[in-house]
Amino acid sequence: MEIDVFTLFPEAFAWFERQRHVVRAAEHDHRLAYVNYRDHTPLSAGQVDDTPFGGGAGMVLRVDVVDAALRARYGRDPVELRTERPVIALSPGGRVLDDRLVDELAREPSLTLLSGRYEGFDERVLEHFASSQLSIGRYVLAGGELAAMVVCDAVLRKLPGALGHEESAVEESFSEALDGGPEYPHYTRPAEFRGWRVPDVLLSGHHARIREWRLAQSRARGPGAGGSLP
Ligand SMILES: C[S@@+](CC[C@H](N)C(=O)[O-])C[C@H]1O[C@@H](n2cnc3c(N)ncnc32)[C@H](O)[C@@H]1O
Repeated sequence: MEIDVFTLFPEAFAWFERQRHVVRAAEHDHRLAYVNYRDHTPLSAGQVDDTPFGGGAGMVLRVDVVDAALRARYGRDPVELRTERPVIALSPGGRVLDDRLVDELAREPSLTLLSGRYEGFDERVLEHFASSQLSIGRYVLAGGELAAMVVCDAVLRKLPGALGHEESAVEESFSEALDGGPEYPHYTRPAEFRGWRVPDVLLSGHHARIREWRLAQSRARGPGAGGSLP
């Protein structure tokens, strides 16, 4: 898979690039690249944004700047580009990312992620260049970089070769193996700590019973487990 992230802050991804599954994905020929809008702006002094028509706070990422960056990368009119590859604008109001959407994205050979900043994109970017809009949750971040990392992280770990033997995406929260439910509890040594004992079944060595217990735990947890704030 090839993922291109359009951003004003490519350096924000330095930590992400060093993560084990991201390194492994690269070793398996999956590619992550960055395009800085500012490198392609047709405006002087590296300008990429402007004040909103109609007034109001903040700056808006210009449509001509996004157009120039997409053309520079793909050598095509961005209006046509979105019929050839997913061009996904990161936006708080977009389709909310979940495991099903991650699976859909992981089946694509290539993805383009557009990160916004400031007040967000000129609406014409969303209307004419983006094939869809994706949100990582119903809250507002300062920019699309963290959202892009969330998307790339979730997608890359679904790709063959990205996870090592010791980790697996086959049986974890929301997977088919668990009927879409949350994962069952894990424990490690010590078997008892402050009087909190690990369930006996996990120490029994009886694989069939352990499996049964784990599936039952996953079903019992149901969606939305995790408690509330104190
Ligand atoms: C400060 S936000 C703009 C918020 C916009 N004015 C609004 O009220 O919806 C700047 C950029 O961060 C990114 N962003 C912020 N929150 C996001 C979220 N929950 N999911 C995906 N992207 C997000 C988007 O790329 C957005 O264009």
